[in-house]
Amino acid sequence: MSNFPNVAIREARAMIQDAQRIVVLTGAGMSAESGVPTFRDAQTGLWEKYSPEELATPEAMYNRPDLVWSWMLHQARVMRSVEPHDGHRMLGSWQRELVDGGGALNIVTQNIDDLHERGGSDVLAHLHGTTFTFRCFECQAPSDYRLEDPTDEQLQATPTLDQLKLEEPPACGVCSHGFIRPNIVMFGELLPQHAMDDALEAVREADVAIVVGTSNIVQPAATLPIAASAAGALVIEINPHMTPLSQDADLYIPGTAGTILPELYP
Ligand code: APR
Repeated sequence: MSNFPNVAIREARAMIQDAQRIVVLTGAGMSAESGVPTFRDAQTGLWEKYSPEELATPEAMYNRPDLVWSWMLHQARVMRSVEPHDGHRMLGSWQRELVDGGGALNIVTQNIDDLHERGGSDVLAHLHGTTFTFRCFECQAPSDYRLEDPTDEQLQATPTLDQLKLEEPPACGVCSHGFIRPNIVMFGELLPQHAMDDALEAVREADVAIVVGTSNIVQPAATLPIAASAAGALVIEINPHMTPLSQDADLYIPGTAGTILPELYP
């Protein structure tokens, strides 16, 4: 195996050694080794198998609430059933250590799962929302609906759309004519304003930005590494495949979140 990742890991350690303010920007690749499919990886990516227009837009949910709700419920059950990996846990330990030392490690994620939190980290911003809290599609009232722990039968199913066991979304308990939807950001919807504001503040204050497991094509998240670099932060990218950011990053490490992050722990 080429020696490159090891050289890169040594370089990365030197870059983070004295850093007091770290921002970690993560995407679907951060959860891949836990068993959550990414979106755009060849063959395995969700958008390779399903069409985002059909399943991840408010129009799609309005037209087929049963199909979109059932599909999202299936994704959420998979996310609930898997465990954080060493990369998640390393970030949790490192965050505690930096905070205890008067510094900061801010996690900004595009992921709608809770693997960072279950790995022991506080997350500053879920840019694309979270799949485990809910509100009404019509009146936007928060819902106290909670996802039950998935059964093995539900988890075994890797349904094609026509195999999906369709469930109707529960009705809204406030307006009674709307139905419940997860608090995720669907295509064409605005990001939670506070999340993007917090993320921009964190990247502008960072000494180092570590970008893990994102294809760096979805906006506005893809602007964050560039904003960090413009504000003087060193940018380290961890991804088994190069992305549009790789050429401009101060350091690109070809590897996975679960193997490289534990190696970086100072
Ligand atoms: N470790 C690190 N990176 C990985 C791993 C891994 N184990 N496995 C795959 N990757 C990389 C892939 O090479 C790819 O560059 O993770 C990236 C995943 O890219 P996408 O599937 O496009 O996911 P992401 O960038 O998070 O997508 C952004 O698009 O579909 C919407 O809202 C959805 O939040 C999502 C957004």
